[in-house]
Amino acid sequence: LTLPPLRIALAGLGTVGGGVARLLAGQERLLALRAGRPLQLVAVSARDRRKDRGFPLDSVAWFDDPVALATAPGIDVVVELIGGSEGPARRLVEAALAAGRPVISANKALIAHHGASLGRLAHEGGATLAYEAAVAGGIPIIKMLREGLVGNEVKRIYGILNGTCNYILTTMRESGREFAEVLAEAQKLGYAEADPAFDVDGIDAAHKLAILAALAFGCEVDLGHVHVEGIRHVGAQDIAYAEELGLRVKLIGLAQLIDGALEQRVGPCLVPLEAPIATVEGVFNAVVAEGDFVGTVMAEGRGAGAGPTASAVAADLVDLARGRALPPFALSAAQLRRLPARSLEARRGAYYLRLMVVDRPGVIADVAASLRDEDISMESMIQRGRAPGEVVSVVMTTHDTTEAAMRRALARIAALKAVVAEPRPIRIESF
Ligand code: NDP
Ligand code: HSE
Repeated sequence: LTLPPLRIALAGLGTVGGGVARLLAGQERLLALRAGRPLQLVAVSARDRRKDRGFPLDSVAWFDDPVALATAPGIDVVVELIGGSEGPARRLVEAALAAGRPVISANKALIAHHGASLGRLAHEGGATLAYEAAVAGGIPIIKMLREGLVGNEVKRIYGILNGTCNYILTTMRESGREFAEVLAEAQKLGYAEADPAFDVDGIDAAHKLAILAALAFGCEVDLGHVHVEGIRHVGAQDIAYAEELGLRVKLIGLAQLIDGALEQRVGPCLVPLEAPIATVEGVFNAVVAEGDFVGTVMAEGRGAGAGPTASAVAADLVDLARGRALPPFALSAAQLRRLPARSLEARRGAYYLRLMVVDRPGVIADVAASLRDEDISMESMIQRGRAPGEVVSVVMTTHDTTEAAMRRALARIAALKAVVAEPRPIRIESF
């Protein structure tokens, strides 16, 4: 090894930062060989200096203020693992890039909110901004899109982008346990965001989808036009009914280019049990890209947790050590397009609907009439048991229709006296 060590500053020593520190120590020789030079941790920053991290920190410099790592001498790269789209993480990344110092980050919130301006800053400062760990944990999806699929026009990209939600949906189905209990378990395992609402309300998946869409379609990150729904309204009943119908509930992020307009949406979907993505369970993520020459490619792996995320950070570190660098979004900042957003109302597909209705004569006829009036054809219907005058679940699926027609029909259905809870449809995807 003739090159000097790559001197690394770690900002954030939590789940991911701790994972990176352990990986750098545990894989020291392997990484040095692969990087052609040693990867050396020289500085760290976190909030609490006294906290026992489970690994020694005596030989590295401690910084109370992470932003100081942007310009402190003796550092070649800053690894930002604090989190949050604003605050110290943003200040640190902006200051480092402005100073021409390379940045590696796992912070999808930051990249999704400020990707365009950070890309410009990196360009102006001549600095690398790498974020393999920000999307789908250990899956090398950024590399796959920026490098492996570079010969393709991508038509559609979709996937399971949040490990916490996939863990919750899988565990609820397998164990019949309640949402809150399973979420607490995902938090304990280090999968969830600092505020787990980001996970269960679909925001984290939206951050990742917006980044993937920018890479796949050569456009600026456009988080504001991602339609976002989470999994809070998906009940254990929906999960069970779905299985009966040969379907499985997944939180899916999907982006596609149709007639020059970009559709981006995150929400619970029902996918056929035989679709490859239906078998992606627990904390695993999967990303499916459809390219014009390659066809369909699916990448699967652990989407959260210390080990998988540290593995992705290590890939960026070795690239940097080797001098391999691409613009953050594959094209130079000036070449990235601004694409018009496609309205979700134009979506065409089937729907699942669970209604809570008072069991009395004529209710189903009224619901069916609401669908008929919007030209929506019912595919199947399940009503279990009979409880005259009581509330029962009625589950139905439709044939293909448009989101706009479905929304109009739902407004009529919600207005029926016998319908006691707001009907929440789930889109059925035929992947
Ligand atoms: P944690 O909450 O576990 O860790 C955050 C770290 O940042 C802690 O060490 C904390 O210090 C430190 N920190 C917070 N505020 C400051 C501050 N003002 N100054 C200095 N240090 C500060 O988060 P994670 O490790 O889970 O996540 C880090 C990033 O990685 C986030 O952007 C997240 O979205 C992303 N990510 C997380 C994954 C996961 O599975 N957890 C997977 C992929 C990406 P202290 O320890 O002293 O409190
Ligand atoms: N909270 C995120 C998840 C971490 O559950 O997928 C990985 O980005």
